[in-house]
Amino acid sequence: MELRSVDELMDLLHACRGAWDTPAGGGRPVDLHDHALQTAALLRRSRPADKELQVAGLVHGIGQLLRAGDHAGHPARAADAVRPLLGERVSCLVRLHREGWENGPVMGEVMEDVLVLRQAQEAARTAGLDAGVLEDWRTVLELVSARHTQLRTVD
Ligand SMILES: [Fe+2]
Repeated sequence: MELRSVDELMDLLHACRGAWDTPAGGGRPVDLHDHALQTAALLRRSRPADKELQVAGLVHGIGQLLRAGDHAGHPARAADAVRPLLGERVSCLVRLHREGWENGPVMGEVMEDVLVLRQAQEAARTAGLDAGVLEDWRTVLELVSARHTQLRTVD
């Protein structure tokens, strides 16, 4: 499945409300929608200029919704879904947020970004913490999406 518009992605993120993110390495399950907003908010604080990293944090768990139950493959599923809309870098960060480094060459800069994303999503498990609302992210998603579309038309 590939996402073709920010509206489509927003619908999917809204649908994360009431779904559960169950961490692979143990840890407390958390509402997937809260988890997405908290991860993005933590990244906005630690990397205020890096909109793509923040957006990767926002969408990193949507694969769990795309095919419920098949947990192992969810990062790859989410990565494929967001690539046409948000671009290769966001897709790569999403894919690597849970995989080992042996899956393809990972350059130093990407590795550092992935570690920041991993740490943020591990910390983003506070039940009831107010991390804003999804609508706050629409303009950021549109910005990243527009940038990617421009790049694609240049090719
Ligand atoms: Fe997560």
